[in-house]
Amino acid sequence: MIYTVTFNPALDYIMTTGEINIGKTNRSKSEEIVYGGKGINVSVMLSNLGAENTAIAFAAGFTGKELERALKEKNINTEFIYLEKGMTRINLKLPYIDTEINAAGPEIDEKALKAFFIKLESLKEKDILVLAGSIPKSLPQNIYERIMEKLQHKNVKTVVDAEGELLTNTLKYKPFLIKPNIHELEGIFKKALTNENEVLTAAKELQKMGALNVLVSMGGEGAYLLTENGESYYKAAHKIEVKSAVGAGDSMVAGFIKGMENSYEYALALGTAAGAATASVNGIAEKEDVYKFIK
Ligand SMILES: Nc1ncnc2c1ncn2[C@@H]1O[C@H](COP(=O)(O)OP(=O)(O)OP(=O)(O)O)[C@@H](O)[C@H]1O
Ligand SMILES: [Mg+2]
Repeated sequence: MIYTVTFNPALDYIMTTGEINIGKTNRSKSEEIVYGGKGINVSVMLSNLGAENTAIAFAAGFTGKELERALKEKNINTEFIYLEKGMTRINLKLPYIDTEINAAGPEIDEKALKAFFIKLESLKEKDILVLAGSIPKSLPQNIYERIMEKLQHKNVKTVVDAEGELLTNTLKYKPFLIKPNIHELEGIFKKALTNENEVLTAAKELQKMGALNVLVSMGGEGAYLLTENGESYYKAAHKIEVKSAVGAGDSMVAGFIKGMENSYEYALALGTAAGAATASVNGIAEKEDVYKFIK
């Protein structure tokens, strides 16, 4: 089974407006809700590509219930941990004025965290666990390490898509895949990486620290993959008209995991296609959008 973890999922309320007049009553022309949070995005793309998966998430209130219902409707298995207080957040997105207001979300208490760690005990050999995104302030910032430490003797494959020390601190537990984007990679090494040699050298450094496969995404500039067998691949990005790049990285992670059934090279191609497809639409792309990039 493939599991994703989302500590602070969201309903993104997208309002299509014209100009906004501050201090006045404004009206939107149409509204749409998309389900958000990095782990949730990965789950949605996996499901769109036909990969069975389970979304583990902390949720609360009626918005949490709605999120779980929507995921189930998409054939995603859910293992939600419900918090007693607060509600799963609603983020307000105003694309016309390129503005968003992201809510804080509920606090995760000790009891819920315990329930989460108990859930992890049911993971088995060959399961895949995706850990993506930042950690909410109410949680210990070493939680990814704690999760991986707990799973280290189980042969669970972990995928970590996080920034800075949050990522590098997990490397000692040998994540199966990490997917820094180029800015995150530059942030880790505190210097600009301007050519293939510099990118691959940095990726190799992360391998020396413990990562097995390193996928470096560079938005419209393509992606590099350094595999655990020492092979390296480059895949150019597809030429698209960008609608919203939100979730492109998460879609890439999902496409890569699904493509692993075949080969590393195909995984890179499917990840690249899934990223491009999602960047071309609002929300996470459907299967047909992804496969039209695969010839
Ligand atoms: N403008 C684009 N044109 C073509 N493909 C794109 C574009 N933006 C993203 N992609 C595809 O999606 C992949 C992941 O995108 P990107 O490098 O922006 O990830 P990210 O920064 O991690 O995104 P996220 O905001 O989801 O974390 C790219 O490697 C590429 O294949
Ligand atoms: Mg990313």
